[in-house]
Amino acid sequence: MDKSNLIELVARYKSGYSLEQPFYVSSEVLDTEMDCIWKSSWIYVGNTAQLPKAGDYFIFRIMEEELIIIRSNNENIHAHYNSCTHRGSALCTEQSGHVAKLICPYHQWVFDKDGTLLNARMMPQDFCHADYRLRSVHIKTIEGLIFICLNNEPPDFEPIRNGFHSYLKPYQINNSKIASIKRYSLNANWKLVAENFRECYHCGGAHPEYCKAVVGANLREDTSLIQKEKELIWAEKGLCTELVEVTPGTTSYAVRYPLRQDVESYSLDGKRVSIPMGLHTDYDAGVVGLVNYPNFWMDAVSDYIWTMRIIPVSASITDVEFCWLVDEHALEGKDYNLDELTKFWEITGDQDAKLCENNFRGIQTSGYQPGPYAAVEDQVVNFVDWCVEKLRVGLQQ
Ligand code: FES
Ligand SMILES: [Fe+2]
Repeated sequence: MDKSNLIELVARYKSGYSLEQPFYVSSEVLDTEMDCIWKSSWIYVGNTAQLPKAGDYFIFRIMEEELIIIRSNNENIHAHYNSCTHRGSALCTEQSGHVAKLICPYHQWVFDKDGTLLNARMMPQDFCHADYRLRSVHIKTIEGLIFICLNNEPPDFEPIRNGFHSYLKPYQINNSKIASIKRYSLNANWKLVAENFRECYHCGGAHPEYCKAVVGANLREDTSLIQKEKELIWAEKGLCTELVEVTPGTTSYAVRYPLRQDVESYSLDGKRVSIPMGLHTDYDAGVVGLVNYPNFWMDAVSDYIWTMRIIPVSASITDVEFCWLVDEHALEGKDYNLDELTKFWEITGDQDAKLCENNFRGIQTSGYQPGPYAAVEDQVVNFVDWCVEKLRVGLQQ
């Protein structure tokens, strides 16, 4: 598909209907999305609890780009390209680890954690080390969540910070502990995974455990009264309740909503699964739901945080990473049982994975044509509109 075909495809898009097949299966569309969406947005990479000590790092890969996300000291986290400035070798070959310095495995150039070139052996006297520091990309953190932008001129980060900051603060992610990280590879286009997590039209039929925990998730109960009652209680405790809606051109969404009466946590029996997290003192904080396009989702209850990161691998494969965070003092085996803690989202995530893969399977057939979204899928429309607008603007350049 050449550029003029792509422009025509985008021009044919009808808001309110699912996308035409090529949006979900074409590698040319994905290449364009890489430039227009993924390389020009703030992308979620992970959290600071993954890097508790100076020298801790993990690799973040998206398509051909590979970055070393590394802590240089108590405060600073960097995102360096995993490419030596001598002849380009990858510096880190493990997925994560701890280093005192970054030493290239090829000819042993030595870089400090902040990217400074410290030693390039046998180079001439007049060799200027400062010219060969590691190349890095923009990086921002909000209360322990780490975002990067691959573009030299990133979009304004402040709207994301402003939307999320008050919701995140009580969890104290900077001092929290990783309970578990799990990675899945889905046979589905990344946008189908994103769409799935922007509506609960499917929840009543697909998620009995989720609907048992969250009032109104089945879309058959009126939640306005309980929402209002709870908002008064949350406000008294200083917990943020201000809805942050994704409006055209913005990327972040934040909301707090109630669990059912007598449900304390996202767990199979509704009971608490760990000690209250961060500044929370009880199990009545409801659920904090955060989303940032294109790849970050978080659902947090009083005793743990669950995050989801999605990354396209190809038009038909999406990598999904789940992370469970608990309070820094929570001890496994005493304060939480890993199986109990992770079961709820493993089951719910598995149900969603099957829905996304089924969706992709059907879209690949010749019988697929765009269908109408229901009114309750308005946030899916918002997401798809956002993607198509990004493509439209990018293709004009
Ligand atoms: S490529 Fe890294 S030192 Fe030569
Ligand atoms: Fe779902």
